[in-house]
This record gives sequence, structure tokens and C-alpha cells, in this order.
Amino acid sequence: MKEIDDLRRELREYNHSYYVLNQPQISDKEFDMKMKKLEQLEAEHPECYDADSPTLKVGSDLQKGFVQVEHRYPMLSLGNTYSEGEVRDWYIKTKKLVGKDFDVVCELKFDGTSISVIYENGRLVRGVTRGDGKVGDDVTRNVAYIQNVPKFLTGDYPVKVEFRGEVLMPWSSFDRLNREREEQQEQLFANPRNAASGTLKLLDSKEVWRRGLQTYIYYTLGEELPLKTHYEQLQKTREWGMNVSSDMKLCHSLEEIMEYIKHWDEARKELPVATDGIVLKVNDFTLQEKLGYTAKNPRWAIAYKFQPEQALTRLEAVTYQVGRTGVVTPVANLEAVLLSGTMVRRATLHNEDFVRALDLHESDMVYVEKGGEIIPKITAVDKSQRDKTAKRIEFIDKCPVCNTKLVRNDEESAWYCPNETGCAPQIRGRMEHFVSRKAMNIDGIGSEIITNMYETGIATSIEALYSLTYNDLRMLDGFADKSARNVLAELAKSREVPYERVLFAIGIRNVGEVIAKKLAARFRSIDELRNATVEEMTEVEDIGEKIARNVIAFFAEPKNISMIETLRQYGLKMKSEEEKVVVSDRLSGMTIVVSGKFEMHSREEYKAMIESNGGKNGSSVSAKTTYILAGSDMGPAKREKAEKLGVKIINENEFAQLLKEKED
Ligand code: IVH
Repeated sequence: MKEIDDLRRELREYNHSYYVLNQPQISDKEFDMKMKKLEQLEAEHPECYDADSPTLKVGSDLQKGFVQVEHRYPMLSLGNTYSEGEVRDWYIKTKKLVGKDFDVVCELKFDGTSISVIYENGRLVRGVTRGDGKVGDDVTRNVAYIQNVPKFLTGDYPVKVEFRGEVLMPWSSFDRLNREREEQQEQLFANPRNAASGTLKLLDSKEVWRRGLQTYIYYTLGEELPLKTHYEQLQKTREWGMNVSSDMKLCHSLEEIMEYIKHWDEARKELPVATDGIVLKVNDFTLQEKLGYTAKNPRWAIAYKFQPEQALTRLEAVTYQVGRTGVVTPVANLEAVLLSGTMVRRATLHNEDFVRALDLHESDMVYVEKGGEIIPKITAVDKSQRDKTAKRIEFIDKCPVCNTKLVRNDEESAWYCPNETGCAPQIRGRMEHFVSRKAMNIDGIGSEIITNMYETGIATSIEALYSLTYNDLRMLDGFADKSARNVLAELAKSREVPYERVLFAIGIRNVGEVIAKKLAARFRSIDELRNATVEEMTEVEDIGEKIARNVIAFFAEPKNISMIETLRQYGLKMKSEEEKVVVSDRLSGMTIVVSGKFEMHSREEYKAMIESNGGKNGSSVSAKTTYILAGSDMGPAKREKAEKLGVKIINENEFAQLLKEKED
């Protein structure tokens, strides 16, 4: 039960990073293997059944800020396999089920993000993401800005028709976008898939157009479709003006299918877009209907996934990098080798546990692979080629830069250098982060200039940036009159950056953009945040104890306090400027405790609603509490306490009712 539980939790988290954050944590193959393991365990232990298991649901891409619409036909996923043997098994099983020979359409499996595009009377009316398969996010405006999605169909199209396909970012656009992001010091996209789905959810549709997305349609749905087979329907779909790949093939036998797979495993490397496998679909619609569906997959289709490309090369050395938060990452330096079109010289080794698990030795021959991540990964060691005298790689115990003894927290896998205020890469890293676009957005200072400033001693801390003079800047390499004036102007301008971004910029461990926003919304000045307790912070949605403790540790460091005071003196914003809006006094005199997870609004939104209607937010249940607004998974301790004190528990609907009643 514990293993099943752990796997379910892990897979949900990976789904979230993949579909919502667009930052995959593991490769698709590793994910698929974990999913298979869970399926197998669930089959062996039917008593552990849970309708919410990731094995029964498609990963959800739903995001706040989009209108959600119900799919007329559910958007499913495909069962997948990495072995030709399983393709054969599927073919034989399907033949048994249909009881006769059947044709299969082989298509490329495009590696982007799924989309449903709906036309009424030939006009594009809606574009919706897969979402959780039942409801998706309405991204119509952005779909209209995809260059090969026609606004109008042509020919003998039906009154209502829905196309399913994949939104992709071609390799060329992807490379250009990442180059631009690198220049702007923005986080890179790991692969075109993440770039495509991130782009589809942008609020700026012109940017969608500029990034050059493409759509490939692979399925058509509707009530009045005249044709009897998938193949014919796709040809028709192309005639109506949709982009359908011409690389599909109608196969009449298993041999033809295998040939198609073999051919495209190689030929796909020349395509302008990313593919990750082949999709096989039973051609005849009547047979498709007969075969039907499981909870999340059709039985009439299966995906064969290509093995990720691998290369074998020699480990030259392991070096260690210190990041801005002090985390020490081991890096494998490799003999250069060609992999998926690029030269690979380095691979991340993640952390000590990973190095141990590989049992890595000096000069080992290692397999490298490109998963969903930017940096290639070592997946295995060829131990047969290991020299007998080779020494095992031992993780360092002192910081490679400042020689401080490294520390590791029990629950974390990373070692880090605790010398936050004296270790050069940490200070430089924090300075770089501070000036970056999403933080203070100080144009004209990039990572090279920071290194230069740091090494020459012109500026060796965040606050020192604000005491830079024209003459200081002119001493830096490549700084002419204009660039020096520009940087001074940028620094002056950064005084206007809102408090929430200053909070993100000062680099509190684990306080990213989103968390900074949430903290700033609840604690409206840096002083308020400095005085906040762990309990008060963890009341805020998504803020756990770890983050709260990091915030407290940050303010306990005198150097950080002096940095904040100096920045304050230079005029940076240390408090929220938006006034609290009071819309009514409907809840005046009430103290409401908000707890659990909600469907209609986020916890923070509810808290804001309470305040703007004159109520008070309580942090814990007491005799003074008027109501508890409870979502799902409110802790049993709170419930018990409420019952004991006789505090009324209300749900989202009752809360809405409460606001309405008061209005009436
Ligand atoms: S058919 C019920 N065909 O792969 C029909 N899907 O895990 C399901 N995909 O979510 C889809 N290329 O986004 C189909 N030629 C293709 C495809 C394709 C890419 C994606 C699709 C789906 C996922 C399946």
C-alpha cells in the first residue's frame, strides 16, 4: 500500500511539473516506467483501488486564469509501449477481438501538446487544451494566432466539426527562442514540447504568433462525418484546410507496420518538428467503435515510443558547481560525443545519491541520453570496460571554491555550502539573480559584467550595485560612456519595481516568483514578513514549513538585514503599494478561518474576499472564530477543535450564500 501510495504521489507531482509548470523533472521514459510499475501493483492489489489514481486519469494541464470549457467528446491519451513485441501483442489481440483482418493507419507521434479546434459553419470558434480530459482551458485567441490554423475551412465541410491535433514548436523556432531567452537571462525551455505548451498559455497572443507554433491534426470528430475510415477522414480533413501530416501510411499487415516503425526511427531525425514515437490506429470506424475504450485510452490505438538516443563515451573528470543557493552539483566532464545532433561534453550527475547509484568510477565508459531535460544525463555505466585499478568517485566534503565544510539536510539529497555570505559563486549568483529580468530587471548588467565587477572589487554585493558611480562603471571592460549612463539609469529606474518582485529578487532560499507574490499579498511589507511566525506563514496557500523556516533563517542573518536596510535607504520598495480594497462591510465583526483546498477560488482569493468585505481572517480556530470556511482535506484536528468549540463549518457554496444573503 505504501509503495502504491508513494508512486501515486510521485506521479501526480511529475504530471504537475510536466503539464502545468512545463518543467519536466524526469524523462518521459522514466515516467512511463513508473506508471507501468503502478499499474502492475494496482492489478496485483485490487483492494488498493482508488478512482483518483494517476493510472486512471490523464495528466491535467488546467491552469488558473483561463476559462474552462467542457469537451464535447473526452480527450483521451494513448496506451504506450517501448517494445516491438508489445506492438505485435496488441495487433494479435486486436485481431482476435475484431475477428478478421483489419487495416492500421500508422502515423508519427508528434511531441507537442494536444489541442482541440472547433469549427462551426466553417468558422474557427474555439481552441481548447486537453485539460484533465473532461474540461480544458479555453485558448481560442492563441490558437487563432497559430500560423497554420485556418480561420475558415474550405470545401464541403460539415456544419459542426472538431479537430484534434498537436501544437508544436518547430526545432528552428525553439532554438531561436532559447537563444533569445539566454540573452535575457530567462529560464530556458527544456524541449520544444514545453516551449509549445508554455506558449499556448501566454496572455500575449502576438507573442504566440511571433514564436511560430504549428499544428498537426491527427483526428476528426463530429456527428455528420460522411466517411467510414480514419484514413479517408484525414485526407478529407486536409482538403478542408487543416494541416495533416503526409507521413502517415495505411498498412495492411504487421510486417508493413514494423517496416514503418523501423524507417521512421531513423528518418524522424530529419523532420522539422519533434516526434517521440509512432501511433497505430485501427482504420475502420465501425471496428473502432466495437473495440471501445478503457478509462483513459482507446483500445483501437496504441503508441510505440522510440528509445531515447544514446551515446557511449568516456568520463574525463567530475567537477563540482556551486549555485547561488550554495547547492553543490556534480558535473561529469566527458570526452566529446555526438548525440541527437549536438556535441555533448558535459552531463549533470544531480547529487551524491545519483553518483552512488551509478557506482561511478574514474575514467568509466558511460551511456549518455537526452531525456526531457536540457542537460544530457548519464543513464548507465559500461562496467565491462572499467579498469581494475580505477577508483570510485567520492563526493567532496568541502566547498570547491571557499573550502567550507559542506552540509546536507536529512530530508534533502543535496549537499550545500553554508558560507552564504563569503562564498564567491553564491554572492555572484545572488547578484545575477537580483538584476535578472523577472526580478529587478536591470538591463545592461549580465552575468559576465557581474563577474567582472566582483573580481575587480567594484561591486561585491547586491547593495553595492546602488553605490556604483559613473567612474566605477567606466573602469569595467567594454564600458563606454553610453553603457555606463544606461546602467545608472536602469538602477535608478529599479526603485519603481514593486515590493513583491523585490522580495523575489533578494534571493531567499526556495522563495521563487510565485511564492514571493503570495507572501507579499499576505505580509504587506518586509517588516511584517520579518515579524511573521512559521504558523502565520504556513497559513498561506502553498507555503510549507520548509519555506517558512528559510524565510526566518534569512532574517536571522545580520548581513541580510543590513542589505535590506541599505536597499531601503536607496529607495527600493519594501512594502505593497496597493491599498486594500474594501467593497462592503457584509462580513464586518466576523472572524473566518479558511482551511483546506478549494474548487471555485484559491485560498488566497477567499482571504482577500473576506477582508474586502470587512471581515477578519483568523489563523487558528478559537472561541472568537465565527466560521470556518472549509475546503477538501481540512485537517481532522481543526475539525475536532471546531466541533468542540461549537464553531460552524461552512463550504464554498455556503460562503457564497453568506455573502449573497448579506447583500439581500
Ligand atoms: S491519437 C484517442 N495521434 O500523443 C486518440 N495522438 O498519449 C488519441 N499525439 O494526447 C490521440 N501525435 O497529444 C494521436 N498522430 C497522433 C499523435 C497523437 C501525437 C499525442 C496526443 C495524445 C498523446 C497520446
